[in-house]
Amino acid sequence: MRTPIIAANWKMNKTSAEAEDFFSRFGNLLEVAGVEVVICPPFPLLGLAAEHCRRMSLRLGAQNMHWETEGAYTGEVSPLLLRDLGVQYVILGHSERRQHFGETDQNVSRKVKAALAADLTPIVCVGEMLPQRQAGQTMAVVGEQLTSALHNLDPSQVRRMVIAYEPVWAIGSGLPATPDDAEAVALQIRKIIGDLFSLKVARDTRIQYGGSVNPENIAGFMAGTEIDGALVGGASLDAAGFARLVKAAMGVRVP
Ligand code: PGA
Repeated sequence: MRTPIIAANWKMNKTSAEAEDFFSRFGNLLEVAGVEVVICPPFPLLGLAAEHCRRMSLRLGAQNMHWETEGAYTGEVSPLLLRDLGVQYVILGHSERRQHFGETDQNVSRKVKAALAADLTPIVCVGEMLPQRQAGQTMAVVGEQLTSALHNLDPSQVRRMVIAYEPVWAIGSGLPATPDDAEAVALQIRKIIGDLFSLKVARDTRIQYGGSVNPENIAGFMAGTEIDGALVGGASLDAAGFARLVKAAMGVRVP
């Protein structure tokens, strides 16, 4: 049984006062069993968020990390420090990092290994850009990103991971993929994991959809058999809206 997982990617948003406000309101709104809710704030808010997450049984995630544990890497953050702060998940290979910060498949692969070594669970983002989709290259692109990220891993490591299918054109655009399209790609992702490792690993690995997910459309993505949750950007910033989204994902009626 794969536990559903909804992750909030706050990106470069919120001050500490705004984060405090989010947690104080979210705490009263959310009572949903059987789902892992992960909050991924910007690095400087991790300490503040860690205390709230512990108290509220939420999981704490980071949005990036370096592949080395220490050294002369100005401006970077070590997986060991993340662990030390109570971080459990780390988003790796987000398309914004690939697009704006030169993140390559090779870097993502290094980071995946370093995260696992530090006992962090990677949420690895894969997804095609619009011209690639239009050219029918979705699975080629996703397959290459995925195969590289999973290179040289043990089956036991892969089973712990989360794969986020995030079509780049759907991120922040208000134009999500259809649940059917997302489900089809998730199924292919499972096939690739099955070919690389085993059917059991493929069945155990959690797959999220990300890209313009909101409280109204989340149920559609959760309705199929392959998608286990969502990576949520814009719709994770408002406590009330995000609580509604988590409830809707778990089939709790949202008034
Ligand atoms: P969005 O972002 O929900 O704002 O589209 C998703 C993401 O980038 O993870």
